[in-house]
Amino acid sequence: MPLSDMISLLFCLVFVLSFGNGNAKDLGALCSTCKQITDNFNKGFERTTKKNFGGGNTAWEERKLSKYETSEIRLVEILEGLCDSSSFECNHMVEEYEEHFETWWFKRKTKHPDLHKWFCIETIKVCCPKGTFGPDCNSCVGGSDRPCHGNGRCDGDGTRGGSGKCTCDPGYEGEFCLDCAERYFSEERNDTFSSCKECHSSCTTCTGATNKDCNDCRDGWEEDEEEACIDIDECSKDPPPCKDKEYCLNTDGSYSCNVCDGRCSGCKGPGPGNCVACAEGYKDEEGTCTDVDECELPDAVCTEEHQECVNTNGSYKCRCAGGFEEHDGVCVQQAQPEDSQEGPAEDTEYSNTENVLTEHQDL
Ligand SMILES: *[C@@H]1O[C@H](CO)[C@@H](O)[C@H](O)[C@H]1NC(C)=O
Ligand SMILES: *[C@@H]1O[C@H](CO)[C@@H](O)[C@H](O)[C@H]1NC(C)=O
Repeated sequence: MPLSDMISLLFCLVFVLSFGNGNAKDLGALCSTCKQITDNFNKGFERTTKKNFGGGNTAWEERKLSKYETSEIRLVEILEGLCDSSSFECNHMVEEYEEHFETWWFKRKTKHPDLHKWFCIETIKVCCPKGTFGPDCNSCVGGSDRPCHGNGRCDGDGTRGGSGKCTCDPGYEGEFCLDCAERYFSEERNDTFSSCKECHSSCTTCTGATNKDCNDCRDGWEEDEEEACIDIDECSKDPPPCKDKEYCLNTDGSYSCNVCDGRCSGCKGPGPGNCVACAEGYKDEEGTCTDVDECELPDAVCTEEHQECVNTNGSYKCRCAGGFEEHDGVCVQQAQPEDSQEGPAEDTEYSNTENVLTEHQDL
């Protein structure tokens, strides 16, 4: 038995002993580490095709170039680029099997040009050929050519781990991923091939793609005279399904209730332009509910002495005018600051909102 086979056997043995059979993830991870290594090897090989020992283009250099192609120096350069320095698994694997790369480079490359196949599958045996899985590289469910009949993923595919069982793509189910899942119908099917398509959104189950092919209508849909499933307009029902301060929005198979704009008192849709009536403090202006500026009303709303009016959204405030402050419900002259270091108080006079006497707000 060649040394490499013994090593890989030993490796497998150690592996099986230390991780047990159920550790499909670790076996899968070993394979993907190996795949990454061989991918990077191929990239390194590409990268070094145009290189030579030094540079220059003399005939002497040409000869050296051809020597470089198969040289140990080139191999070492490729090996250096196989792993990120941070990847423990990768570096560990390269270190452990470094001599295999040398063997392949000098003795097997011509006969076995596919490094992944030679190294990962056949030599260190962490991977399997596509469509196969597990320690012995058995065929996936559905066969190795089209695992899961092309409608799913085979557990452990291409690795020495996994169960070979299928996880079906959306729309398919069953051990072989040939059956159609709920809300899908079979478009085409024989022993080895199955194509499932989604039912129309109005169907529970169906025999075809349109709303006329439903076996039953889903909630929110009803059958019309032509036995097609059509959307129920919940919004037009009596009594209406939404609350007073909400408007109803019909959707396919359902509906939603949405809060009216604050400027409305009842509404038929979003925004201040769909109000049934305007909320207090707002008036209808060409179909849109707009804030009433109470401060501009002919009858003054802030009537106490030294008060001024401030319009707000939907309401207004009365506050003490500049130079006055609120005291027991009346506006009195502001006390002059003793030391005038703070400068004139003009800056803050008009932006002062603390001296609010009365505030009117909608409930
Ligand atoms: C099953 O159907 C597929 C797709 O139409 C076809 O390629 C295949 O030959 C069929 N197989 C059998 C056994 O009829
Ligand atoms: C006024 O109130 C309405 C309703 O709450 C709001 O949509 C709007 O953005 C407000 N406008 C301002 C200027 O705050």
